Amino acid sequence: MKSSNLPVKVGLLGIGTVGSGVFNVLQRNQEEILRRTGRGIEIAMVADLDTARARALVGPQVQVVSDARAVVANPEIDVVVELIGGYGIARQLVLEAIEAGKHVVTANKALLAVHGTEIFAAAHRKGVMVAFEAAVAGGIPIIKALREGLSANRIEWIAGIINGTTNFILSEMRDKGLAFDVVLKEAQRLGYAEADPTFDIEGVDAAHKATLMSSLAFGIAVQFDKAYVEGITELDALDIRYAEQLGYRIKLLGITKKTAKGVELRVHPSLVPAKRLIANVEGAMNAVMVQGDAVGTTLYYGKGAGSEPTASAVIADLVDIARLSGVDAAHRVPHLAFQHDALSNIPVLPMSEVVTSYYLRLKVADETGVLARVTGLLADAGISIDAVLQREADEVGGEGATQTDLIILTHDCVEARMNEAAAQIQSLSSVLAPLVRIRKEELA
Ligand code: HSE
Repeated sequence: MKSSNLPVKVGLLGIGTVGSGVFNVLQRNQEEILRRTGRGIEIAMVADLDTARARALVGPQVQVVSDARAVVANPEIDVVVELIGGYGIARQLVLEAIEAGKHVVTANKALLAVHGTEIFAAAHRKGVMVAFEAAVAGGIPIIKALREGLSANRIEWIAGIINGTTNFILSEMRDKGLAFDVVLKEAQRLGYAEADPTFDIEGVDAAHKATLMSSLAFGIAVQFDKAYVEGITELDALDIRYAEQLGYRIKLLGITKKTAKGVELRVHPSLVPAKRLIANVEGAMNAVMVQGDAVGTTLYYGKGAGSEPTASAVIADLVDIARLSGVDAAHRVPHLAFQHDALSNIPVLPMSEVVTSYYLRLKVADETGVLARVTGLLADAGISIDAVLQREADEVGGEGATQTDLIILTHDCVEARMNEAAAQIQSLSSVLAPLVRIRKEELA
């Protein structure tokens, strides 16, 4: 990058929802941003397949092309902002931009969670920055918090609501007692969910984000392939109701935790005590809890998606680059918060070694001794019970009912042990339907 007083020349790859937000916010707040950076940030070039639409958005001052490679190859461009998404062409373009000595800003969590090791190594070799504040929880500056604000701490765990679509669906299921499928359609109608919402509802999007946070928190390589991923497609509104009766909400959490044996990295629906602030994060909002040994518990809340909230994060990265591009690479904040040569090889634990507590729901024959047999099997496995609730499910309820729902909350145990106990409980003849098991996090 050239003389430090010249404006930073930015090339945008993609000017859809986020790209147009970046353009508009940069225009609107340019004076304020200039006072912060001491130099301008100028969008000099935009690549988008829909060139007519792009031209209408950015006006005649900005060069618009349909070929993203023309941006990456332009020696006048200092920073490439990748807003294409996916792992294919986006990966190629990011690597080519790095190779050309350009800094990169990306909102692409999928790309970094899967190919981060390759991309950060290339950036380290070339001495350029790859900034990704927008990749996790949209407008919430959680990357900045983890990389800089909390750098005094040994991070102990992170638990986040990091997918707005699923949080909207769960909120609506709880509020209105609606089934998953019905609310998903509503989320799509309102434009929260993608046309193909698979990554959202299957937990993959949240797992991409949790993977990035685990690297930043614990100084380990990005390892999406080791993440445990479970979405909300199997969740029954009945369990949301029972959880509520027990004082819990069900949220899709991205969790990463450091234990004596390794790092837990998992996404799944979780019961969370209703009294926790994070349990009250509703609709499409995001929130991330971070527990550090010095700071204690911290909570970050805001919009995890949308044009200007995500643009807010992208522009913050551009401001960092404008401030730091002239600085010797060794003195910048490292990509993954820890020095490149100081990453740890502490393992990501398989799910069978994760320790957590559980909500169990069993449909059982309403006959003498069933509860004793079930609790006996849990006791034999060394699993301690926290609470038991017996409820007649609406459709079979009332005196004389032959079936009943048994809800059990357990204390912490290792997942492998719960797997064995659950298999034994399932094999009891009085258990009439597949056992429902949802993990529970106290987040204390
Ligand atoms: N689809 C994501 C969500 C937003 O619903 O939170 C971008 O990651």
